[in-house]
Amino acid sequence: MKTVKVAIVGAGFAANLHLKTFKRLHGVAVEVIGITSKYEESAKQFCFTYGLDPAIIHENAETLIRKADADVIDLVVPTWLHVPLAILAAENGKHVICEKPLTGYFGDPGVPIEQRENVGLIDKKIMLKKVLVDCKKIHDVFKRSSTRFCYAENWVYAPPITKAKRLLQSSRGKILEIRGGESHSGSHSKYASEWKYTGGGSLVRMGAHPYGAAIHLKIWEGMMRNGTPIYPRSITAITAKYREFLDELPSEQDYIRSRPKDVEDWSCGILTFEDNTNSVIFGSDVTLGGIENWMNIHASNVRIECKISNNNSVMAYAPTEAQFKNEYTIEKIETKAGWSHAQPDEEWMTGYPFEMQDFMECLLNDREPQSNLELAIWTTKAMYSAYLSAETGQRIEIPKGFSLD
Ligand SMILES: NC(=O)c1ccc[n+]([C@@H]2O[C@H](COP(=O)([O-])OP(=O)(O)OC[C@H]3O[C@@H](n4cnc5c(N)ncnc54)[C@H](O)[C@@H]3O)[C@@H](O)[C@H]2O)c1
Repeated sequence: MKTVKVAIVGAGFAANLHLKTFKRLHGVAVEVIGITSKYEESAKQFCFTYGLDPAIIHENAETLIRKADADVIDLVVPTWLHVPLAILAAENGKHVICEKPLTGYFGDPGVPIEQRENVGLIDKKIMLKKVLVDCKKIHDVFKRSSTRFCYAENWVYAPPITKAKRLLQSSRGKILEIRGGESHSGSHSKYASEWKYTGGGSLVRMGAHPYGAAIHLKIWEGMMRNGTPIYPRSITAITAKYREFLDELPSEQDYIRSRPKDVEDWSCGILTFEDNTNSVIFGSDVTLGGIENWMNIHASNVRIECKISNNNSVMAYAPTEAQFKNEYTIEKIETKAGWSHAQPDEEWMTGYPFEMQDFMECLLNDREPQSNLELAIWTTKAMYSAYLSAETGQRIEIPKGFSLD
């Protein structure tokens, strides 16, 4: 069995997802040889949880990336760090696994991040221009580099989506419309409330998954049909800040846990592709009932409904919270009383083991992953064009390249 040496930057929610997944791979062993996080304590706790030697903890991301004897750097940090750390990794001859979304606008780089205020209020055209510059930079670096960029968009690998692709391949139907969304009642991450860390609110944090999956499906459809990818062309979108009026409600009327500062907590975009077909995509931080990940595909001769979460594969009932208190049911559910859509294997259903299997095989066999830098860049361009649309009230042509002209 071949071994891939991984160094992890970050020790939070997504790092846990990745670590659990490493143990489920076949034909390849993953050895975690380095880790760092903003707080040493959380890196120590992470090592303790997974039986890793705390001697692998590095002082910071830069020393880890430069010095650790790793094949691949796994970036599970807030989005503002993705591009600079991915570029540093490539420059040091290391492959990259990078969480979604690829990048965004994070304010004036000349001002220390802690001191940046209200970044979310900046003109969205300025944001889109800067995001295009970053996308070009990382595109150029990896084009020149012999290292690979693996974009951790797990929806590409989620079994309901991969099954949908096989069904579409069988039917040969044309995808006319995709409806999809990711929703829950607010992130666990303290970084999620501020634009300067995440590059936006529910549109990029949650919407990155359905936008990414829809774009992947249309690129794939074009390749399957005649070898020509179908890329996004334009977008019209709206965003909302519901927290502003939730704060006015009595506490028993507000079970939403998100506390956005300068980010939106709801979004909807209509993404039009080069072949004039459409996707309607939701990203919401104000939805109760546990995480909801779904994608419905309306094709010319078939209709396919993918319920990645909030599906009914296991419906569990308990009269009170007490009965299931020792067992996980579904991510971000408010209560375990009553009926629960209990996920029998949330990681499997969400695609993480298949994603990581593909990434490790790519690194060993020197091939492109299914979820790659091209998908990461298109998703980012679509989402930042969505922000510009929401601000101006206009349909925005999504830049084909890296400039607005
Ligand atoms: N694919 C998915 O399903 C999924 C789910 C959750 C999060 N994510 C993505 O994963 C990334 C991390 O999100 P999270 O939910 O794990 O956040 P988190 O807040 O739970 O964890 C972030 C981690 O990054 C570390 N960190 C912050 N600044 C750092 C720095 N300067 N140097 C080193 N470490 C630093 C923190 O200490 C923490 O350990 C984000 O890009 C997010 O969009 C993806």
